[in-house]
Amino acid sequence: MCGIVGYIGTKNCEPLIVNSLKRLEYRGYDSAGIAVVTHGALQVRKKAGKVSELEEALDASPVSGTIGIGHTRWATHGAPTDLNAHPHCDQDNIFALIHNGIIENYAVIKQKLLKRGVVFRSETDTEVLVQLIAVLYKKTHDFESAVRLALNEIVGAYGIAVLCAREPDKLIVARNGSPLAVGIGENEYIAASDASAIVSHTRQVVYLADGEMAILTRTGMTTKTIDDVAVTKDIEEITLDVEQLQKDGFPHFMLKEIYAQPETIRDALRGRLLPEEGTARLGGLAKVEGKLRTAKRIVFLSCGTSWHAGLVGEYMIEQCARIPVEVEYASEFRYRNPMVGEGDVVIAISQSGETADTLAALREAKRQGALALGIVNVVGSTIARETDAGVYIHAGAEIGVASTKAFTSELVALALITLMLARMRTLSYVEGTRIVRALEELPVQAAKILLADSSIQAIAEKFKDARNFLYLGRGFNFPIALEGALKLKEISYIHAEGYPAAEMKHGPIALIDENMPVVVIVPHDEIHDKVISNIEEVRARGGRIIAIATEGDKHIEQLAEHVVYIPQTLPMLTPILSVIPLHLLAYHIAVMRGCNVDQPRNLAKSVTVE
Ligand code: AGP
Repeated sequence: MCGIVGYIGTKNCEPLIVNSLKRLEYRGYDSAGIAVVTHGALQVRKKAGKVSELEEALDASPVSGTIGIGHTRWATHGAPTDLNAHPHCDQDNIFALIHNGIIENYAVIKQKLLKRGVVFRSETDTEVLVQLIAVLYKKTHDFESAVRLALNEIVGAYGIAVLCAREPDKLIVARNGSPLAVGIGENEYIAASDASAIVSHTRQVVYLADGEMAILTRTGMTTKTIDDVAVTKDIEEITLDVEQLQKDGFPHFMLKEIYAQPETIRDALRGRLLPEEGTARLGGLAKVEGKLRTAKRIVFLSCGTSWHAGLVGEYMIEQCARIPVEVEYASEFRYRNPMVGEGDVVIAISQSGETADTLAALREAKRQGALALGIVNVVGSTIARETDAGVYIHAGAEIGVASTKAFTSELVALALITLMLARMRTLSYVEGTRIVRALEELPVQAAKILLADSSIQAIAEKFKDARNFLYLGRGFNFPIALEGALKLKEISYIHAEGYPAAEMKHGPIALIDENMPVVVIVPHDEIHDKVISNIEEVRARGGRIIAIATEGDKHIEQLAEHVVYIPQTLPMLTPILSVIPLHLLAYHIAVMRGCNVDQPRNLAKSVTVE
C-alpha cells in the first residue's frame, strides 16, 4: 500500500522520482505527489489520480532540485483528493513528508496539536506526523532529533521519507512495519518501498529493519534506531531483473504474467527434484529438516490468493504426508488467541513478503514458540527475513495486482514440500518417483493450456455481461473455485462466488437460473463422477456450464456449453493447471468490460496495512 521514493544526489531528481513512482504504482494508485528542495524552499506538486496525472501537472509547472521525495497513494485516512495526496507539509512549509502505513494514535496527537494552534490542511493521519516534527523542531532546532522524537511519540506502521527546507542537504528515512530499502549509488542515495524503484540506478542496497532510520547526505549514510543507537547494516545485492519490470509487448502485465507460467513453474522446480531418490530437496529448509521430520502439525498463514494456495497445500500434505494441517486467515489468527506452540510448523505464504496481517500473525506464532517458515516470492522481503527458514518461489517480479504466476509457483513450492515431507515419512520411492515425473511435466503442460487462449477469449465474449458467476470445484480443486472467483471479481467487478461443488445444494443452488454462468472444475480424478452429478444438478435448473476438464473427457462435452481442457496429471497437481484457464477467462472478461486489469479499483499489490 503506497509507494514511497526519496532521492539525494547530484542529478535533477524530478524525472528520476516520477519514473520510480511508475514502478511503484502497483502499490497504490489513487493519487501521487512530489516535493523537492530548491534554494532552501520546498516545491510541492500533488494530484489525485495516477502518476500520469502528476506528470501532466509537472509539465505545466515543473520542479527541479537534487533532493526530493515522491509518493503514490492507496488511501487509508481521507478520500483520494489533491489535498490528501502526499507529500504533506507542516503549516510553515519547512518539512515535507511521505508515508506508507497507518498512524494509529493520530487522533490524540492531532487534538494536542490543534490546541497549540496548528492549522491542518488534509484529513490524513500522515499530516499529523509532519506537523509534530515541525513543532519538535522549534524546540530542538535539529532535523534529525525532531524526526526521532516524533517517531517515538507515534504508534502504528510507517515507511517515511522527510525533507527539511532549513537543512536542505539531508534526507531522512525510517521504517516500522512498512518496507524501506536504501539504494547506494555514487554520491547519491535512492530510498524506496521496494527494489523495483531502485534497480535501474544501483544494485547495492540496504534494507532497514523495524525501528530503524537512515540519515542520508550526498557523501554518506548513517543508520541508527529511532532510540538513537547506531546500527551497522549489511550491503546486499538486488537480484531483480530490470526486464521483468517491462510489459515486453503484452498489453498488460497480467497477461505477460499469465504467459510466463510455463517458465515460472520451471523456475520454481529448478534444482529441487531428486529423481533418483524420488523426492525433493529444498536448500532453504535444510537447516530445519529435523524439526520437519517430527512436526506434529502444520499451520498455513496467509491472505487472499496466497490463502487459497494454503488450502491446496492442506489437501496435498494431509493426503500424501499424513500430517494434520490448518489454514488460517492471517488477519483472524492474530486476534483470536490462537493455540500454536512447540512442535507446530507455521508457514507464512506471501507473494510480496510484506502483507501486514501475514507478518503480524507470523510474529505471534513465533512468539508462541512455533517454528516459523515462509513461502515467499520477493527476495529480502520482511517475511523472508523474519522466518527461521523458507522457500523462495522464484516467480520474478509480479506487477499485475491480480496474482497469477506467483500463485502457481506457490503451489509448486507446496507440492515440493509435500513430496519432501511425505518421503520423510511413509511415501514409497515408487510413489515419490511418480510425483517427481508429474512435476517435471508441468511446464510443458502449462504451455499447452495457453494455446487455448483464443477459445477462452470467445467464452469471455459470450459471458462478459453476466452479473454473477458461480465457480464450483471439489477436493484439490475447491480452492481453485475460490481463486477463479476471486480473480474475476477483483479485476472485472462482476460478483462471483466460489463453492465446494457438493455444498452448492445447501444454499447457492437457489441462485441458479439461465442467467447464471457456472464454471466447474472437473478434472479426471477420484471424485470426477461426483462432480458430474453436481453438474447435472446445475443443468436441471437451467444453469450454463463452462467446464475445465481433463483431455480425453468427451462425455463432458454433452453436459457443458463450453469445455476447456487441461492435460492429465496427478490429482494433487491439477490445481497448478486448472487455474490457468481461469486466469485467462477473468483477464479477457475484464478487458472486454473496459476495466484496468493491472490496477483494479480500490486495490493495491501489497497490503501493508491491517
Ligand atoms: C491476489 O490476486 C490479490 N490481489 C490478493 O488477494 C493477494 O493475494 C493478498 O493480498 C496476499 O498478498 P501476498 O501474497 O503478497 O501476501
